[in-house]
Amino acid sequence: MAGRFAGKVAFVTGGSRGIGKGIVELFAEEGAKVAIIDLNEEALSQTANELREKGHDVYAKVANVVNAEEVENVAKEIVETFGSLDILVNNAGVIRDNLLFKMTDSDWQAVMDVHLKGSFHAARAAQKYMVQNKYGRIINISSTSALGNRGQANYAAAKAGLQGFTKTLAIELGRYGITTNCVAPGFIETDMTKQTAERIGISFEQLIQASVANIPVGRSGKPADIANAVAFFADEKSSFINGQVIYVAGGPKC
Ligand SMILES: NC(=O)c1ccc[n+]([C@@H]2O[C@H](COP(=O)([O-])OP(=O)(O)OC[C@H]3O[C@@H](n4cnc5c(N)ncnc54)[C@H](O)[C@@H]3O)[C@@H](O)[C@H]2O)c1
Repeated sequence: MAGRFAGKVAFVTGGSRGIGKGIVELFAEEGAKVAIIDLNEEALSQTANELREKGHDVYAKVANVVNAEEVENVAKEIVETFGSLDILVNNAGVIRDNLLFKMTDSDWQAVMDVHLKGSFHAARAAQKYMVQNKYGRIINISSTSALGNRGQANYAAAKAGLQGFTKTLAIELGRYGITTNCVAPGFIETDMTKQTAERIGISFEQLIQASVANIPVGRSGKPADIANAVAFFADEKSSFINGQVIYVAGGPKC
């Protein structure tokens, strides 16, 4: 298939819905073979079927980024299926929001595990094949919450941690033709932000309106807005852009 990512294999964690799905769709539409893992079996098979119906090559598996062995096996299977692993997007994420005094140990740990340990597992598994191939693009999904957000001590710490992780991989892996960058979204309409509306007891429409009031471009973000920034870093031509964080939030502040 022709396109900007023709001949490339893109692996997106948590790619069955929301931002991850938007990223997978863009890669597939622009010619990549795509690999998705997710915990949500129903959303995963629906997304995989949609893509296959459009004629795209898809690898899809229920797997947990927190489980190192599962992630290692997935990376191996992707390479066995498609011949390489060129692009990794660490997108899988969860929120367990609460003010600090109410935040439990498990709220803290769940968020650290999925975002930080999960990204570590997938990057470690993928780099093996990327180093052999002397080519790779790793993109980590951070958040404007990395700059601080009420009720998100766990999530803000994890998303800021991902930025340090990104810069370190950029230094370690750059010599092998692998770049590592970070996309930090602001408010994006997905099931995750629906969950936030439920938690604070307002409708999703009300949350969107309240968010848009503080977004200079006057609209909320959509998964395609993030996919577009991910594609920029994933492009073969972006080989001199390494260890960077781009905020995609409709303005300079969250
Ligand atoms: N929506 C936003 O406003 C926003 C803003 C900034 C950053 N982000 C980040 O973008 C990413 C995608 O968020 P989204 O809004 O699309 O959320 P979402 O909840 O719609 O999608 C997240 C996906 O990750 C999967 N997932 C969760 N834990 C997993 C695990 N252990 N292993 C494998 N898959 C797992 C979920 O099943 C789900 O399909 C997350 O990292 C999130 O933190 C979102």
